Amino acid sequence: MAFFLYVTTIVVGTLSALLYAPLKREATILGFFRPLGSWQNVHGIENHAIDGTVACEDLHYHEPSDMLYSACGGDIEKAAGWFPGAGSLDHPENPWYGTLVVINPKTMKSQKLTLTDFEGPFVTHGISIYNSPSDFETVYIYAVNHIPNPLWTASSSAQPKAASRIELFVHTVGSNTAKHLRSISHPLIRTPNDLLALSEREFLVTNDHYYRDGFMRVVEEFSHSAWTEVVHVHLVDSTNVSASVSLNSIPNNNGLGWGPNQQVLISSALAATLYFSKLEGGYNKTLSVTHSIRADGVVDNPSFFSDPWAGIDGKDYSGYLLPGLGRPIEFLGNYKDPTGKAPISSIVWYVPAMAGEEERGSQVTQPRLLFSDNGSSLRGATTAVIVPIDPATNEGRREGWLFVTGVIAPHMLATKIDFATALSSAAE
Ligand SMILES: *[C@@H]1O[C@H](CO)[C@@H](O)[C@H](O)[C@H]1NC(C)=O
Ligand SMILES: *[C@@H]1O[C@H](CO)[C@@H](O)[C@H](O)[C@H]1NC(C)=O
Repeated sequence: MAFFLYVTTIVVGTLSALLYAPLKREATILGFFRPLGSWQNVHGIENHAIDGTVACEDLHYHEPSDMLYSACGGDIEKAAGWFPGAGSLDHPENPWYGTLVVINPKTMKSQKLTLTDFEGPFVTHGISIYNSPSDFETVYIYAVNHIPNPLWTASSSAQPKAASRIELFVHTVGSNTAKHLRSISHPLIRTPNDLLALSEREFLVTNDHYYRDGFMRVVEEFSHSAWTEVVHVHLVDSTNVSASVSLNSIPNNNGLGWGPNQQVLISSALAATLYFSKLEGGYNKTLSVTHSIRADGVVDNPSFFSDPWAGIDGKDYSGYLLPGLGRPIEFLGNYKDPTGKAPISSIVWYVPAMAGEEERGSQVTQPRLLFSDNGSSLRGATTAVIVPIDPATNEGRREGWLFVTGVIAPHMLATKIDFATALSSAAE
């Protein structure tokens, strides 16, 4: 007995020591150490809520036209009943008829695009945009659409509830329409979250979960099991599609984005990690991960800010933005609040461009807190993008607008960032 106790003590002691660090990290990621009671908001110099941007998950800055593109569900109440992206599949009969939205970062005005040749539903999530190098006016927009599966019936589990697919639209810069070109489905596209357009015929898509709902979805999230993948899709001709797996080694694949020099950014949401990778291969493209950086919280759709005015004062503020939820523990409960009022806190971290370099990346160890909000100004950050302000129009000041979106936020937020104070000390 004594011996048994002795062994038990050693085993339990060793296990706790071994588990202590991972458990502590897990608790940090989930926000246990960030109680709302002592939450400190970190905002920029001034805030703008953008009208007409209800429930927009993703955001993309199109530099040639100086416009931001997003896809918005438009209705927070419906998201509580049907948004497969967050495991909400109770009300397939009442889905979003969302739309694409263009935002002018100078006027802060949004414009909903009228979708032609398209009927919906349109249950929006990640988007990606592409223009050919020779035509900046024609913008192809790929968008996830989590439509309910028309073949699903409550009495049989033979069919999944959602028939998530990708929609491809084409839009001319400055117009207020987007024309639907086609819907793209493939057995490898199961739980699409985000997209990365490679051309008007080719894109990458992340499946964020293996399990669409239920207990195993939770197990999948917390075990950080690599059960999902990034898929490369080709539009072979006007009806056929081919797809192959590009990467299957990281858990909970979430957001995708471009880094400098064709680097591909992949975030692993609950593992709170941003992976840097290279696109390789010929017809079927694969991703090879070079390295990664960890944050202290869920990381959604990453983005790279390329500082166009670095030449002016020799200070290059380029870097990566890692948006995410401050307290994922509150997400599941508050997500389903149909009034959209229950707070969901947000954090955006920043790491300087050096973090993305394979050789020097390890010198950047700690992402820097750029923005945090307890849910009062921005509900549940999913994407963050910086649009710089030309110093020539800004009395020489080096500033920019940080746009933060939230998939179940009543609006997106723009907050003005002073680069010297907010971004500089990260660049040692
Ligand atoms: C999010 O991912 C999409 C790819 O689907 C990309 O087009 C978009 O720019 C990303 N957003 C940010 C902020 O990187
Ligand atoms: C690309 O992947 C598809 C699907 O796995 C496969 O059928 C095809 O042979 C591959 N093509 C090449 C050129 O490797």
